[in-house]
Amino acid sequence: MALGRGWTLAPRPSCSFLGLCPRTARRPTSAPSPWRQPLYRAATSFLGPEGQAFLEENTEVTNTGNLTPEIRLRLLTPRCRFWRERGDLWPYSDPYWAIYWPGGQALTRYLLDNPDVVRGRSLLDVGSGCGATAIAAKMSGASRILANDVDPIAGLAASLNCKLNNLDPLPTLAQNLLDSEPAPWEVIVLGDMFYDTDLADRLLQWLRKCMWTHGTRVLIGDPGRPQFCGLGIHNRLEKLITYSLPEPTGEENYSLTTSSVWNLQP
Ligand SMILES: C[S@@+](CC[C@H](N)C(=O)[O-])C[C@H]1O[C@@H](n2cnc3c(N)ncnc32)[C@H](O)[C@@H]1O
Repeated sequence: MALGRGWTLAPRPSCSFLGLCPRTARRPTSAPSPWRQPLYRAATSFLGPEGQAFLEENTEVTNTGNLTPEIRLRLLTPRCRFWRERGDLWPYSDPYWAIYWPGGQALTRYLLDNPDVVRGRSLLDVGSGCGATAIAAKMSGASRILANDVDPIAGLAASLNCKLNNLDPLPTLAQNLLDSEPAPWEVIVLGDMFYDTDLADRLLQWLRKCMWTHGTRVLIGDPGRPQFCGLGIHNRLEKLITYSLPEPTGEENYSLTTSSVWNLQP
C-alpha cells in the first residue's frame, strides 16, 4: 500500500493509512449519464460476505471526534488494527472511505444545518468516500441522491453507513464522471476533493460545464488545501460558513483547525 506524499497536509503518521494520497481516477469512461440510469450497482454485493466481514472487523462504528455526531460511521480509528498495521497488508485499495475528511465534515454539517439547500432537489456527491455527505442530504430531504466514488468499496461503505443510520442504501456509482457529459443534477457536492492539482483542474472544468449546461448548484467543502486555494478562482467562490474542527480531526490532519463550505459560481 503506497503512502503517498502528495497529500500536503498529511495526517498523523501513526496510522498506517493516514498520510495517504487519495488516488485520482485516470480511467476514461464513456458511461451514460447517471441521470438516465435508474439502476445502480448494489454496492453490498461487491466484496461478498467475507470481504464485508473483513471491513466490519477492521473498522469501528463511531460518531465522535468529528463535526456531525448525529451520523454514525464505520471508520478507521486508533482502536483498529490497521491504524498501526503495515498498510500493505490491507488487501484492498487504499481505504479513503474509512476516513472522514475535514472538507466532508464541514459540508455534511452544513447540509444538516441548512436542509433547505437540498430539500426536494436531486443531488450528486462526487468523491463520496464514507457517504456522510450523501447521508446528510438524505436526512435533509433531497429528492434523489447518487453517491459517486471511483472506489467501489466506498459504495459498500456508504451502504453500510446508511444502514447504521436507519436509512435504506443510497444509489452508488463507481465511475469517473469527469470524462462524461454532465447530467442535470440540481446540486453537486464535493467534500475534500481538491487534494491533487490535476484532479482539481479537471474537476473545475467539469463543474463549470455542469453549471453552464444545467444551472447546477455546486457546494464544496475544503479545509484550505493548497490545491484548492491555488485554483485561482477566489472571485468565483462565495464562502458560506467556516467551522472549527474538533480536536481529534485537527490532530489527524496536523495543523488544520478549520474547514469551510463554498458556493462555486459559474
Ligand atoms: C479525500 S476523499 C474525500 C471523501 C469524502 N468526500 C469526505 O470528505 O470524507 C476523496 C475521495 O474521492 C474519490 N475520488 C477520487 N477521484 C475521483 C473521481 N474522479 N470521481 C469520483 N471519486 C473520486 C476517492 O476514491 C476518495 O474516496
